[in-house]
Amino acid sequence: MGVKLGILGLGTVGTGTVQLLQDSAGRHPLLQEIEIYRVGVRSLDKPRAVELSTEVLTTDLESIVNDPAVDIVVEVMGGLEPARSLILKALSNGKHVVTANKAAIARFGAEIFTTANQAGVYVMLEAAVGGGIPVIQPLKQSLSVNRIHTITGIVNGTTNYILTRMQTEGSNFNDVLADAQRLGYAEADPTADVDGLDAADKIAILASLGFGGRINLQDVYTEGIRQVSKTDIAYAEKLGFVIKLLAIAKRDTPASPLSVRVHPTLVPQAHPLASINGVYNAILVEGEPVGQVMFFGPGAGAGATASAVTSDILNLVAVLKTNTAVANPLLACAHQEYCQIAPMAELITRFYARFLTNDQPGVIGKLGTCFGNYGVSLESIVQTGFQGKLAEIVVVTHDVREGNFRQALAEIRDLSAIESIPSLLRVL
Ligand code: NAP
Ligand code: HSE
Repeated sequence: MGVKLGILGLGTVGTGTVQLLQDSAGRHPLLQEIEIYRVGVRSLDKPRAVELSTEVLTTDLESIVNDPAVDIVVEVMGGLEPARSLILKALSNGKHVVTANKAAIARFGAEIFTTANQAGVYVMLEAAVGGGIPVIQPLKQSLSVNRIHTITGIVNGTTNYILTRMQTEGSNFNDVLADAQRLGYAEADPTADVDGLDAADKIAILASLGFGGRINLQDVYTEGIRQVSKTDIAYAEKLGFVIKLLAIAKRDTPASPLSVRVHPTLVPQAHPLASINGVYNAILVEGEPVGQVMFFGPGAGAGATASAVTSDILNLVAVLKTNTAVANPLLACAHQEYCQIAPMAELITRFYARFLTNDQPGVIGKLGTCFGNYGVSLESIVQTGFQGKLAEIVVVTHDVREGNFRQALAEIRDLSAIESIPSLLRVL
């Protein structure tokens, strides 16, 4: 007997998955045991890139999750509702679920995994982070014996594409964003990508797996790339850095609170993440005793996500074939508690700041005094350019407590010589 799939959605990811399943020669032999039994869509009239019989396609997605014949529900429709309700119904009906929906998992993970555990079924989400990059299963399995201390990712292809082009061409954010939309990389509404929300969903999921606890999405400090200017990219380059939107989860010791954040970051040019360009994604995992492990690959697209979704389906087919009565702890979500998240004021990091000042004697000295008052030690301070009559001063600090740095900045803002502080970025 074949394993019957009910697929919710036949867009980029759904179509790629169906194409892969319909072309199984030369791939894992278990794929031949899978039947594409029902596929749910919004419109039956839309032209499709795959051939499916009229009995397979339906607009009644409820009927798929309620059909006793369906073994695995593959949710690749996206959005929060009705995706959440359909996932919950499928799980309550005893069906395993595969999903690519990071937005739903990051927001409703607690109820989704609780429902799955109660029903004795699995929720698999390899495509939700890093597209085709296998990172979810490695974190759950191969790396789980390590004490993870840092997960650092470039997990949003759209923003990495924009920053890469700003860097290589010296272009403005708005011009590159318009191009990215024309090329289909960025969505018509690019908010989730450029404001860091998509990356926040993804790091919440990775942190939860790496650090064994639930993450409250509201606790993830999130800053996007709209304020990154070509001036800062050029300064960063002169100082030996590239600017990347990093998603970071870090815990110094198993007893410390976790820091989970997304923000544009100056990355040293020699760092492994500095050379990840264009729409590619990469995730660097650091743990003890393994050291550094980096995952790299295509973070989006039909083929990449089809690979990830189908690998989840394959894992579930294997489970269904072995028919075990005991949940496999390496596939199930084992944690129930929320992680304690450290406030940003406690973060220890380096900062880059750009000041526009009146060109008066002693300004650099005053800046240094304000920083010194709060124990902020400077790694470099340069005055290289002018914007009109205003001098441009760029500062890179040593590691500093973010709260102290902010206090120093508040004092600096009050200095009469300071016109504005156009940029403030963290440094890896
Ligand atoms: P998409 O191209 O917009 O496709 C969505 C599909 O779901 C369409 O087939 C649509 O039907 C169907 N659908 C949506 N809402 C529906 C509703 N209420 N009732 C019935 N059918 C509905 O989306 P996608 O790019 O494949 O993304 C799917 C999921 O994968 C999202 O959660 C996304 O975040 C995630 N993901 C995507 C990528 C990527 O590269 N695209 C990468 C990683 C993760 P119609 O075809 O009839 O309109
Ligand atoms: N919008 C996402 C990105 C798609 O740009 O990375 C993959 O999740």
